[in-house]
Amino acid sequence: MNNLLEARNLSKSFKEGTKEIKAVNNIDFSIKENEKIVIYGRSGSGKSTLLNLLSGLDAYSEGEISYKNFKYENQQKKLIQLRKEHMGFVYQFHHLLKEFTSVENVALSTMILGETRKKSMEKASDILNKFGLSERLHHFPNQLSGGEKQRVAMARALINKPDLIFLDEPTGNLDKETSKEVINYLNHLANEYKSSIIVATHDPEFRNFSDKILTMDSGVFV
Ligand SMILES: Nc1ncnc2c1ncn2[C@@H]1O[C@H](COP(=O)(O)OP(=O)(O)OP(=O)(O)O)[C@@H](O)[C@H]1O
Ligand SMILES: [Mg+2]
Repeated sequence: MNNLLEARNLSKSFKEGTKEIKAVNNIDFSIKENEKIVIYGRSGSGKSTLLNLLSGLDAYSEGEISYKNFKYENQQKKLIQLRKEHMGFVYQFHHLLKEFTSVENVALSTMILGETRKKSMEKASDILNKFGLSERLHHFPNQLSGGEKQRVAMARALINKPDLIFLDEPTGNLDKETSKEVINYLNHLANEYKSSIIVATHDPEFRNFSDKILTMDSGVFV
């Protein structure tokens, strides 16, 4: 199968006074369609930095990244479009909008792509049902448990059936059982939508979920 995303000789440095930190140090990475990759590594090993480069959120210092035939370099506008249409994002903190209900939070992702409010709300209800949240559609984030909030955040990331989903410590605030449950939902939906997944995490529960496990240390894979 073809690579969906590919990076070569990728580096990212941060300047700290006179010192230079190589948070990502000359990494090669690729992910195929419908593949699930989990990245482990101690705190500060470079996982989040790598995800931010691969998802086009942050600029790299050296190397190259391509998404299918599209090269990231110097194409900021196209990259923003690519992120909106083909990628999904989930973080440790759900970042749901607190003055909107679950279904509205999820529907917004589709409305920004030009879908009508009515159709977006229907789609959002459908995917929230698939995440087991049919009883929580009209609740606000502060009326949801931690696990429920993360399921809404995942529904929001998945609603446009992205080719690729980036998750940075998506279960970082959850207990073991809740984490397992959330991962099961994610697994199910990613399979149904044939989305590829890159997860940076400390959570051992992701081991059974992945096609490939990578471990980072000091900016490289070990
Ligand atoms: N904006 C920044 N400016 C300076 N240094 C940074 C910046 N972002 C990250 N770093 C440094 O880069 C290295 C990698 O950080 P990163 O956040 O990628 O680690 P991580 O593996 O995600 O850690 P954690 O498991 O704690 O989330 C660390 O040494 C960190 O201090
Ligand atoms: Mg991190």
